[in-house]
Amino acid sequence: MTAAINHHGLRPPAFEYRGRLDKELYCEKIRLASLAGRYGTPLYVYSTQMIRQRLQAFAHSFKDLRHTVCYSVKANSTLGILRLVAAEGSGFDIVSGGELQRILRIDRHAAERAVFSGVGKTETEIELALCSKIMLFNVESESELHLLAATAKRLKKRAAISIRVNPDVSAKTHPYISTGLRQHKFGVPVSEAKTLYAQAAKERFLRVAGVSVHIGSQITDLKSFAEAMERVAELVRMLLHQGHEIQFVDAGGGLGIAYEGVQTAFAKQIGAYARAITKPFQGMKVHLLLEPGRSIVGPAGALVTRALYRKTNRKKRFLIVDAAMNDLIRPSLYGAYHQIVPARLSSSGKKETTDVVGPVCETGDFFARNRKLPVVNENDLLAIMDAGAYGSVLGSNYNTRGKPPEILVDGAEYKLIRRRETVEDQLRIEK
Ligand code: LLP
Repeated sequence: MTAAINHHGLRPPAFEYRGRLDKELYCEKIRLASLAGRYGTPLYVYSTQMIRQRLQAFAHSFKDLRHTVCYSVKANSTLGILRLVAAEGSGFDIVSGGELQRILRIDRHAAERAVFSGVGKTETEIELALCSKIMLFNVESESELHLLAATAKRLKKRAAISIRVNPDVSAKTHPYISTGLRQHKFGVPVSEAKTLYAQAAKERFLRVAGVSVHIGSQITDLKSFAEAMERVAELVRMLLHQGHEIQFVDAGGGLGIAYEGVQTAFAKQIGAYARAITKPFQGMKVHLLLEPGRSIVGPAGALVTRALYRKTNRKKRFLIVDAAMNDLIRPSLYGAYHQIVPARLSSSGKKETTDVVGPVCETGDFFARNRKLPVVNENDLLAIMDAGAYGSVLGSNYNTRGKPPEILVDGAEYKLIRRRETVEDQLRIEK
C-alpha cells in the first residue's frame, strides 16, 4: 500500500513510503533500509525510472525543434549514471579532460555528441577533445580561441566552435551559481563576441557552428531564460546576416528543482521552460542544444545516513549522523535546503526541532538547522533528499573519510555502480 506522501513532498516512483503501520521509504521497489543493511551508510541511492522519465520529458517538450540534450556530466558523473543517460540517447556537456575521459570510457564515440564548455581549457584538454572529435567547443575567451585555432592547425583537425556569450542577465539564484552577469568570469560580452566570430571565420581549422549561453544553475524564474535567449536570438540573426553558418544554439542548463515543498509535475515545468527557451527562435532553422544536469538527476537521488547520537547542549538539540559535509556539501557551501525524512515513518507522528549535523570537525558541517523533524532515535536511518545532482561529485576526503557507495535502483533490481572508497584507496597514491 502506498502511503499518503504529499506532506513530505516525496516523489514516486523514485521515493515513496509504503507499508501499513510503520511506513518504510522505498526507492522504486527497493527498501532503503535493506540497501543500508547491505552496503552500510552513508550511501547514495538513485532511481533509474526517474532519470529516464525526466530525459523523456525533455525530449517530448522540445520535439518540435531539432535538438540534442547534452546531459551536464558535472551534476553526476558516475559511469553507471552516464551509461543510463547515454542509453536514453543523450549527448553530454563536459568541462574538463577528466569528464571527457569518463564519457569515452562508456562509449568511445561519445565525444561526437558532446559539447566542451569551461573558462580554463588547457592545451592538453583541447588536444584530447580534438582527437576525440568533439561535437562543439564552447569558447569562452579570445585567448582560448587563439589556442584552439593553433592547436587545431598543428593537429590538422577541424574544430566546430561556438562563442559562449555572457548576456548580462540576472539568473536570480545563489550568487555562487549565477554565471550570466557581466561581473562573472563566464563567456564574453555580446559586443566582443561579434569580433571573435569574425576572427574565427578566418581560421582554416575552425568552423563557426553556433552560439552558446548558460546563465546559471537552480533557476526557477523562467523570465531569466527567456531574456537570455532573446539576446542570443538577436545575435544569431546578426551573425546569419553576416554570412556565418549558425547551426547550433546551445541554451546551457540551469533549470531548477523544488528542494523545498512539493514539486510541480515535471512535464508541466519542462513544458513552460521549453516555451521560454524556444520562443525567440520561431521561424529560425537552428539545432538547439540543452545542457541540463540538476533537473535530470537531482530529485532522482538520496543520501541515506544513520543517526549516530542524539545530543542536547543546553537547550539546543543535535542529531549527529554518519554522513557529513564531505559527502554532500551543498548545505555548507550554499546554505542549501535539502529535505530530510526518516526511512521509517513511525505512526506516533511526534516531532521535534533539531540541527542535523555530521561528524566532521567544522561548525559548517550541517545538513539542517532548527529543522522540525519526526523524532529520530539513535541508529535510525534518514534520507537526505534531492541529492542526485552535485552530491557525490562534490564529495571530498576531508577528515580521511571515504566517498560513499552509490546504488542505482531499477524497479525491483539494483546495481552497485560505485563501491565505498576505502582508506587504502586513498593511501595508494601517497608516499
Ligand atoms: N552547462 C554549463 C556550462 C554549466 O556550467 C552548468 C552548471 C550546467 C550546464 C548544468 O546546470 P544545471 O542544469 O545542473 O543547473 N554545485 C552547484 C551547481 C553548480 C552548477 C555549475 N554549472 C550546486 O550544487 O547547486
